[in-house]
Amino acid sequence: MYTIAENTDYKELTYLFYDNGLEITPGIERPSNVVKCWSCRNSINQDLIGGASLEMRNGHFVVADVAVNIEFRQKKIGTRLMNLIEEEIIKRGGNEAWLVAKAPDLYIKLGWEVVTREQAPDISKCFSCIKYGKECNPQILHKRF
Ligand SMILES: CC(C)(COP(=O)(O)OP(=O)(O)OC[C@H]1O[C@@H](n2cnc3c(N)ncnc32)[C@H](O)[C@@H]1OP(=O)(O)O)[C@@H](O)C(=O)NCCC(=O)NCCS
Repeated sequence: MYTIAENTDYKELTYLFYDNGLEITPGIERPSNVVKCWSCRNSINQDLIGGASLEMRNGHFVVADVAVNIEFRQKKIGTRLMNLIEEEIIKRGGNEAWLVAKAPDLYIKLGWEVVTREQAPDISKCFSCIKYGKECNPQILHKRF
């Protein structure tokens, strides 16, 4: 059993994101553009097993990070985190959101659509990275609510 709640320890989350392969500096302070983030904890021992963060970048809602520790994957925790993010965007009056993902399948299953770089606003550091489109090919995804 696990519980998902608003996160109050961003630093702890950065280690989870980093350990699950996301591009983040572990231990950084919560950036000011983080709108909200969530922690998923093991209900028995309160261990952190997953998390997600929603940011505002250049005036756009962006799903910044979503991760679930490997031994807890395929149990719909990622889906629940995404559902909470989408509910939050709608609650805040948003009608669309963006994300950049190396593994887009989860998001496509949740109704997100792959778009081209030209269709997306400037919402990711990936776009100016020298590896982008060469050795690293993340997909840009968009969803309208
Ligand atoms: C992506 C991630 C958060 C998904 O978490 P999860 O709890 O396993 O996701 P769910 O159980 O809700 O999966 C929902 C569906 O998406 C699919 N899915 C999830 N992650 C997938 C992946 N990486 N590749 C292909 N399919 C995936 C699942 O198979 C499942 O399909 P089903 O409904 O047909 O059974 C998790 O795999 C993870 O932390 N990965 C490493 C970090 C990462 O890549 N984060 C995303 C940023 S790009």
